[in-house]
Order: sequence, then C-alpha cells, then structure tokens
Amino acid sequence: MMTDMPAQALLAVPKLSLRNVAKNFHTKTGKFNAVQDITLEVYEGEFLCIVGPSGCGKSTVLNIIAGLEKPDGGEALVNGKGIQGPGTDRVVIFQELALFPWLTVRKNVEFGLRMAGIGKKEREERAMHFLKMVHLTRFSHSYVHELSGGMKQRVALARALAIDPEILLMDEPFAALDAQTRDILHEELQEIWAATRKTIIFVTHNVREAACLGDRVLVFSTHPGRVKREFEIDYARPRHLEDPNLIVFAKNILAELKAEVEKVAQEELDYDWRTGKKKFVLRPGDHDLGSGI
Ligand SMILES: Nc1ncnc2c1ncn2[C@@H]1O[C@H](COP(=O)(O)OP(=O)(O)OP(=O)(O)O)[C@@H](O)[C@H]1O
Ligand SMILES: [Mg+2]
Repeated sequence: MMTDMPAQALLAVPKLSLRNVAKNFHTKTGKFNAVQDITLEVYEGEFLCIVGPSGCGKSTVLNIIAGLEKPDGGEALVNGKGIQGPGTDRVVIFQELALFPWLTVRKNVEFGLRMAGIGKKEREERAMHFLKMVHLTRFSHSYVHELSGGMKQRVALARALAIDPEILLMDEPFAALDAQTRDILHEELQEIWAATRKTIIFVTHNVREAACLGDRVLVFSTHPGRVKREFEIDYARPRHLEDPNLIVFAKNILAELKAEVEKVAQEELDYDWRTGKKKFVLRPGDHDLGSGI
C-alpha cells in the first residue's frame, strides 16, 4: 500500500509519466501518426522544457497531459494515476491568449476560482495575491485590450496560478512577445517557480529560452514525434539568457535540433531542396531556434 511505503519511495513517484504514448489523427488522407512511443517522467517541482521542429507533436503531448486528447497507445499518468480528462491539477497556458475581454484583469484571474465556487472575498484576495506576484496590481481594474502583450501573458499566468494547479503546461507562451519583454518574463517566471515550486512543462521553439529555464530539455524528433535526446541543464539559478555558459548548452541543443529541422525541410520543401538550396532552411515557426547563438 502507498501509505506503507518509505518516504523515499513515495518521493520517487513521478508527478507525471508518459509511457510509450502514441497518438493518431484521422485525416482526409488517412491515419496520421502524430506521436509514437513517447516515454518521459517529470518529478514534482521540476521545470522541463520541450523543443522540436514544427509539427513534431509538442502541443499534442501537452494536450494529452492536459487531458484534452486521449492517447491511442500507452499510458499517461499524474501521480501514478491514469489521466481521465481535464482537471484543475493541470492548467495550460497557450501562446494565443484565452483571456475574457469583457472582464477586468482581476475578474479574469478570479474566473477559475468562481467556477470552483470560492466565495467573493477569498476570490478577491487570491486574485490580488497572484496579481502582485506578476507585478500587475496597478492594473487590476483594467480591461485586457488596455494591456501590452507581456502584461496579458502575466494575467494568464496569474489566472493559472490562482487555481493552484500541480502542473503548469506552457505551450510557447512567450513566442509572440518582443525580446525585451520575454527576458523580463523569463526572470519573473523563474522567481514564481522558485516561490511556488510548481511542476512546469514548457514548450518552446527557442533553444536559448529552453536552456535558460529548464532543469532538463527534451529534443523531440520529427514525425512521428519521439523523444530524441535529453539534456540536463545542471547550472545555477537565477539564469540569464545572455550568460555565455548557457549559450554553450543552447548550442548543443541546437545541434541536435538542426538535424530534425532539416529533415522536416527536406520532406516539406522537397522541390526547393532539390533545386540547389542545400542550406539550413527555417520554416516560419522556427525562426527563434538559435537566435543570437
Ligand atoms: N486535430 C488534428 N487533426 C489532424 N492532425 C492534427 C491534429 N492536431 C495535430 N495534428 C497534426 O499532428 C502533428 C503534430 O501537431 P502538433 O500541433 O502537436 O505539433 P507541434 O510540435 O506543436 O507544432 P508547432 O511547433 O508548429 O506548434 C502535425 O503534423 C499536425 O498537423
Ligand atoms: Mg504546437
């Protein structure tokens, strides 16, 4: 029984595990194997980053963890139990914002708490606590259209944290932001992670972002998506994007990733490839792969 297990063994149960997970989509041209044989474990309080070429199945894997998609093979477990569907223990923050334009910032943050039936006073207190954490208390009465992109992502983060999930799933959350805003959010996210010790799974196209934020970085291979290689980023925090030591980690990750991106380019841009453009081709979504390295 779990209760008879020694503390160490209990600690060893991963917060999240995927075992040989596969997912197929049924398309006009037949069955499409999006991911195959994905096996990974994430422990409580860990910050895991996932990088991979466009279309390799990163969002599909996050959706499976979120309970929005069901795997066609293998198992997806949270705290050792099979994922049955969405739950407040897991929250996704997307690149495209899903804030409500008709609600103020504070009401947006309160939304999940209201759904959970939490009373007005506690809702307000919790919303303000998390708005403070993301440095937005001054804007609690503003509407979403009055905020910058970075501020909107902070509201999304506060809203996700307010419902106190065990796992935060972040799908390219900063991709649409300018570099300066992104830098600030990297620092804030590291501070928030240190303060809350949430388990975070963070998908990005930007290898420097992955090296800066992750305890580990997984590189996915092109379809069907699989875990190609794992990098441990054994480096002190807080970390800064410009740190030359981190750039070395990022370079190694990028080297692994380039081969995959080239494969995608070869498959999808076959014509151009054959007509002599035999150089590294970036697709529109991959522009951040090695920026500045
Ligand atoms: N609902 C769906 N129906 C059919 N095919 C899908 C569906 N969702 C995803 N796919 C396909 O599965 C593959 C993986 O998609 P996914 O969105 O997970 O990739 P990704 O790694 O997140 O890509 P990106 O980096 O561009 O966000 C892609 O080829 C995509 O076209
Ligand atoms: Mg995606």
